[in-house]
Amino acid sequence: MTNNFDVIVIGGGPGGYIAAIRAAQLGFNTACIDEWKNATGGPALGGTCTNVGCIPSKALLQSSEHYEHAGKHFAEHGIEVKGLGLDLAKMLARKDQVVKQNNDGIAFLFKKNKVTFFHGRGSFVSHPSTGSGQSENALYDIKVAGAAEETITGRHVIVATGSNARALPGAPFDEERILSNDGALRVQGVPKRLGLIGSGVVGLEMGSVWRRLGSQVTVLEALPTFLGAVDEQIAREAKKAFDKQGLKIELGVKVGEVKNGKNGLSVAWTNAKGEAQTLEVDKLIVSIGRVPNTIGLDAQAVGLKLDERGAVIVDDECRTNLPNVWAVGDVVRGPMLAHKAEEEGVAVAERIAGQHGHVNFNTIPWVIYTSPEIAWVGQTEQQLKAAGVKYRAGTFPFMANGRARALGDTTGMVKFLADAASDEILGVHIVGPMASELISEAVVAMEFRASSEDIARICHAHPSLSEATKEAALAVDKRTLNF
Ligand code: FAD
Ligand code: NAI
Repeated sequence: MTNNFDVIVIGGGPGGYIAAIRAAQLGFNTACIDEWKNATGGPALGGTCTNVGCIPSKALLQSSEHYEHAGKHFAEHGIEVKGLGLDLAKMLARKDQVVKQNNDGIAFLFKKNKVTFFHGRGSFVSHPSTGSGQSENALYDIKVAGAAEETITGRHVIVATGSNARALPGAPFDEERILSNDGALRVQGVPKRLGLIGSGVVGLEMGSVWRRLGSQVTVLEALPTFLGAVDEQIAREAKKAFDKQGLKIELGVKVGEVKNGKNGLSVAWTNAKGEAQTLEVDKLIVSIGRVPNTIGLDAQAVGLKLDERGAVIVDDECRTNLPNVWAVGDVVRGPMLAHKAEEEGVAVAERIAGQHGHVNFNTIPWVIYTSPEIAWVGQTEQQLKAAGVKYRAGTFPFMANGRARALGDTTGMVKFLADAASDEILGVHIVGPMASELISEAVVAMEFRASSEDIARICHAHPSLSEATKEAALAVDKRTLNF
């Protein structure tokens, strides 16, 4: 086996493994190094997303939603459920199986595309004699520290080392009581009292899972507004639904000391009025954002520039300060999303091949997989107002959609924002059933710079939730047909 590669990718998450596959498709001799270990110490390709992120969280969201439906909503359909029980160990084992299928799937894709995989930690090696990092013709030596240690050499290096959960100062993760996303996905018994710090994406998704399974959930959020990045009208609608479900969310708080006691944790906090409070919980999930992961990369060995948060500094095309060294995904600026990482990985591989890889940051969709789901693409109404853009808005409630009524899930709405003069769609925001799937139509429309009238004139299947999208587009012109 050769140790010389055209492209070496460090990190096998969605940014890295997709970059490696695309590079191999383009004819490059490609290696991917990833250090993630499964429970038995073997490789587990897929990074945060597959192992402790997107995939396991969605598996548990699905299982817990089934459980909640069986307990609370099947009766509305005339289905009687007697003796409903929860086998948490089985639910977690199913989640682990889903993760394994994805790990194995990526290993298979590497074989299929002839990507050489190295299990271990990849780090830059200083190489002054070849002038590594100094010229376009530099070759980079990368040390792989795995079961054995070896050095491989590459003409291009793509850094895709992802991110790690940020801990609360003074309260490091022990994954027993103070949990990151990792521990939050493998709690062995349903905690009676669960606290969450941060009502962002992880907080809402994990809070939903454990609330559905029976925990009393309290979420402490520093910001005074709920889901500040989400369109305000949509965030208000979502908050109403979460309040109704019993997810207790305290906004504008200041979290103080976290003390470990005999019977659990005690979290000191101050509410929005400045009053001192204490939250007693059995487990605490800390979901206050993530930090780029460059630990172990030995960036300084070659002078790879990082910012003050440890993120690799890149330009719009994911080029670092070193020739032929690129970086993608959570380890660079921009939203920490798997599909953003993937798009950057593809674009970089294509740029290495001399093609014009492109990522449109204006059309990266966001989805929060709660119930109701929240999904959006483009600008929010508050962003348009702040920028002084003249726009027209149209909304359509799922309450007036036949398919939503048949599903028994009529919470929420679809909202369109279109330019007042040209009618070009500037943003689409959805809170409601299957928002994660519905948003794709909006992404396609915006990518093709469609107008709201374009969507309003397209034939949508009946009865389908997508009719709410069409109706919201009609609402921009104040001519909904079913509301
Ligand atoms: P990562 O997935 O973090 O992968 C980096 C990989 O590099 C890891 O395997 C790591 O072990 C490896 N690595 C690091 N350093 C080295 C080294 N020196 N040598 C070798 N290997 C190394 N995003 C979505 O779009 N949708 C979702 O539904 C979603 N759900 C999420 C749920 C949770 C609970 C969390 C925490 C995140 C979620 N995300 C979701 C975010 C998503 O997981 C990340 O945006 C995505 O994983 C980033 O991909 P990446 O390839 O940049 O990094
Ligand atoms: P987040 O950035 O989404 O939310 C963090 C929240 O914590 C914010 O609301 C912030 O104001 C709050 N916060 C920060 N410090 C605090 C403090 N000291 N006390 C109280 N609140 C505090 O981060 P999160 O939820 O950890 O997720 C990390 C990232 O992972 C997300 O931003 C997203 O990029 C990705 N992710 C994506 C998912 C998806 O696409 N469905 C699901 C889960 C995660």
